[in-house]
Amino acid sequence: MRIGWLLTVCALLVFLLAAQTPKDDAAPPYKNPKLTPDARVADLLRRMTIEEKVSMLAGSGWMESMPIERLGIPAIKMADGPMGIRSWQGSSSVTNAANAMRVTSTSFPAGLAMAATWDPDLVQQQGKAIGQEVKALGRDMILGPTVNIARQPLWGRNFEGYGEDPYLASRLVVGYIKGVQGEGVIATVKHFAANNQEFERHRIDEKIDERTLQEIYFPAFQAAVQEAGVWSVMSAYNKVNGLYCAESPRLLRDVLKKQWGFKGFVISDWGSTYSTAATVNAGMDLEMPGGEPMKLWFAKPSTQSDGNGAGWLTSANVLAAIQAGHITAAQVNDNAGRILRSMFAAGLFDKPHPGGGAVDTPEQKTLARTAASESIVLLKNERDVLPLLPKSIHSVAVIGPNAAVARTGGGGSSLVRSSYSVTPLDGIRERGGNQVQVSYAQGVSIPGEDASKDSPAARAQMREQAVAAAARADAAIMIVGNAPSIESEGFDRKTLALPEGQDELIQAVVKANKNTIVVINAGSPVAMDPWIDQVPAVLMMWYGGQEGGHAIASVLFGDFTPSGKLPMTFPRRIEDTPAFGHYPGENLRTEYAEGIYVGYRHYDRGNIAPLFPFGHGLSYTKFDYSDLKVTPDKVASGRRVQVSLTVRNSGSRTGAEVVQLYVHDLKSTADRPPQELKGFRRVLLDPGQSQSVTFTLDPRAMSFYSTAKHAWVAEPGGFEVFAGASSRDIRLKANFELTK
Ligand code: BGC
Repeated sequence: MRIGWLLTVCALLVFLLAAQTPKDDAAPPYKNPKLTPDARVADLLRRMTIEEKVSMLAGSGWMESMPIERLGIPAIKMADGPMGIRSWQGSSSVTNAANAMRVTSTSFPAGLAMAATWDPDLVQQQGKAIGQEVKALGRDMILGPTVNIARQPLWGRNFEGYGEDPYLASRLVVGYIKGVQGEGVIATVKHFAANNQEFERHRIDEKIDERTLQEIYFPAFQAAVQEAGVWSVMSAYNKVNGLYCAESPRLLRDVLKKQWGFKGFVISDWGSTYSTAATVNAGMDLEMPGGEPMKLWFAKPSTQSDGNGAGWLTSANVLAAIQAGHITAAQVNDNAGRILRSMFAAGLFDKPHPGGGAVDTPEQKTLARTAASESIVLLKNERDVLPLLPKSIHSVAVIGPNAAVARTGGGGSSLVRSSYSVTPLDGIRERGGNQVQVSYAQGVSIPGEDASKDSPAARAQMREQAVAAAARADAAIMIVGNAPSIESEGFDRKTLALPEGQDELIQAVVKANKNTIVVINAGSPVAMDPWIDQVPAVLMMWYGGQEGGHAIASVLFGDFTPSGKLPMTFPRRIEDTPAFGHYPGENLRTEYAEGIYVGYRHYDRGNIAPLFPFGHGLSYTKFDYSDLKVTPDKVASGRRVQVSLTVRNSGSRTGAEVVQLYVHDLKSTADRPPQELKGFRRVLLDPGQSQSVTFTLDPRAMSFYSTAKHAWVAEPGGFEVFAGASSRDIRLKANFELTK
């Protein structure tokens, strides 16, 4: 009886175990895609040892997080962006070398060019295409977008970001992230916060007041977190108010995680950590790079003399800090849990990216071309010199150091290798076909690119050849600008001026041909004073990616009506710029003394005439604005108002206008800028067509950040709204009142 009972129990146990064990092994709850990321994280953390959790806090290599085989936790495989996908085999000095592992992907226009489209839907399509290419290449995460504000025009990375205005940058970053993450790829908004100069980027301490941070330098990050639900945020190299961003509890823990409710993980910039406990406790979740590649890189004297810090969150260091009581187990749960949460949210456990997919597909190429075309800004067009066709232009001379080479992007970690790229000269030749004869002269070279061309005698000779070509042609198209050797991550530009020899070349050519068009192929504003009054037409083509050459040809010849608008004020002189006198700082400190008066806010307040204002961009057609209405015109605090107007294409070509809406608070206890961008819409209209455009102004659009209340405050009183084609081309005004 007893034995029988025992046997029954044993049989039952064996049955239960047999029934349960395989099921448990096959599908522990964290592997169940039907559960929420939070539930999966909670389950997985319970199964992990403290050593395993800690190991996740540092990378396993140059661009991979730490995998844990026992639990089937994959590494997150990263790649640089934001304008496409870069090789992940080392720092940009390695991957830019001629013998680097070749990874080709679509090279889209750089960030500032994308910002010049003022087209969040297009940026979202770009993000989607980039997400698809990340997957196709077997990676999981893109290190972009860059949203640092263009505080001053010499910043070497201006070309990567979305310009000077926090509202414009916010709308675009949301598009980019939604596009990327919709594909199950982790986006990384960077560099938090206020990475606004390359000069001493590893050591500079920036003094920035709270209101300025909240109103100018934070909004794009806040939108990335709260509106786009970004899964990763990269901290910046620099210090803000005395602390390295990577170990700033104020930035990472209080603002990002508590105030904004960020649920993803913070990743360090490559070599931006300087402590163990302080960094982990501030809210840094993942230190990069890690493992052997980090050690080899950090052992190089130049890595350290540049000011990089690395190797602080290795398992040995973090475990020692836990043992010493400087880091709690709960903290490590939070760090590892955040990384895992983003991995679950992105689907990395459920749908890994094996690679081997198609990149640079016909659709992606078309998108790159559309984006490059939309980004081009017509700065000046006297005598309607442009478009060249259908006028009687039978020959053009294409001149300049950027004509026969495709300068697709600026230098550093964002520069993408594309499988092909179209030079402006090729684009113009292709479009000109049999209709327009095209000649070419380099005119001047970028200093340092070919020493034999840098002497005064060589320059004089090249200039003469260019002048002769211009004199023989019906029009001269000059493609001038910068190059990655002049405009790059890692250093700032020394001057606003075009590289040596270009101003003289432009002056000489325009004397020989009055139909001279200057095309600027650069990533930030350049000085034009030496020649702007003599040259009838100027186009800004930025760094337009692989299709830049096709795009500029289509604008020059009139196939595409330009619609780009400046996302950055173009100053006349460096002395006029907001941070002048407070950049690059002294003794490794710089004070953001201009406060919220960045970009047009500064020019408007000081009544300074820029060379070209924020929002400026001409068209080949004309747009009329009418019927501006604000409803209601009296509204209680906390409510919204609707602003509507009609825009009409009164010219003879199809084209797009970017309608801009600025707001001015008439009565405030705080100092408020004369106007701030709070709405914009790109509308494509056929000749004679009109469209009504409606904007919603929410309380935030009327608010300033109150340092007394540590909150956004909209004060009762009168407000003005301005609608126009640029910040200095206001066509309509209206008022409304905010009541208590
Ligand atoms: C840059 C980052 C980049 C990282 C990895 C850093 O030097 O500042 O933007 O993502 O390198 O290449």
